[in-house]
Amino acid sequence: MLSSSASSALTPAATAATPAALPLLTQDYSAYTAADQHVWQLLFDRQMALLPGRAADAFLAGVQHIGFTREAIPDFREVNPRLRELTGWELVVVPGIVDDAIFFGLLADKKFPATTWLRKLEQLDYLEEPDMFHDVFGHVPLLTNPEFAAFLQQLGAAAQHHRHQPNSLELFTRLYWFTAEFGLLSQPDGLRIYGAGLLSSHGEVKFSLSEKPTRLPFSLTGVLDTAFEKDKFQELYFVLESMPQLPESLAELQAQLAD
Ligand SMILES: [Fe+2]
Repeated sequence: MLSSSASSALTPAATAATPAALPLLTQDYSAYTAADQHVWQLLFDRQMALLPGRAADAFLAGVQHIGFTREAIPDFREVNPRLRELTGWELVVVPGIVDDAIFFGLLADKKFPATTWLRKLEQLDYLEEPDMFHDVFGHVPLLTNPEFAAFLQQLGAAAQHHRHQPNSLELFTRLYWFTAEFGLLSQPDGLRIYGAGLLSSHGEVKFSLSEKPTRLPFSLTGVLDTAFEKDKFQELYFVLESMPQLPESLAELQAQLAD
């Protein structure tokens, strides 16, 4: 993979079929070494130098709200109380990529699955699976935004509700992928990124806003008709006009599935 751009959710793993069956894990903060803290600093500094003017205002505000800094790898014992206070969400520790059905069930419960391992210095730009820089730095800031957090919870609940309909999980996965992971947003002051797969990837931040990829106005039909790339930069991104398009698109998908 070219970047830390994969979702934390989207490749089935050999895990049990219900969230209740997930192992109860915690972040062992004392296990992080000085080298780990150094890698966090490098990653944080590199992204935060790049993101102003490129990341959505809601994301940059979220970094402030949650209190992420270059000084230390986020401690979930500090992140979770803050997140619960802001939007009712919390991080739950998972060993790696989780099954789609489990993933959406967690979202429905306002639980975001996160790994706790951090890439090594020699892996700054190349990861086979998402690490905590993706899961935590990429996703958590927008989980502090009530509007976006509500959309993600509703997406999880809707996917769970329709999970027994043939192919429905793939449709919810595409909606998740082209919004929460790789979404772009048209702000009054220009094109911005809100997808975590982009925000945690130094290379794809620049690529997604360059002249190279195709960018289309966001539409549910467009998203549902588009297969996505897991192991390389996306060739196509969808651009929201405004955040309310997210719940609107979800309602549209649910209406289609109810027909
Ligand atoms: Fe992700």
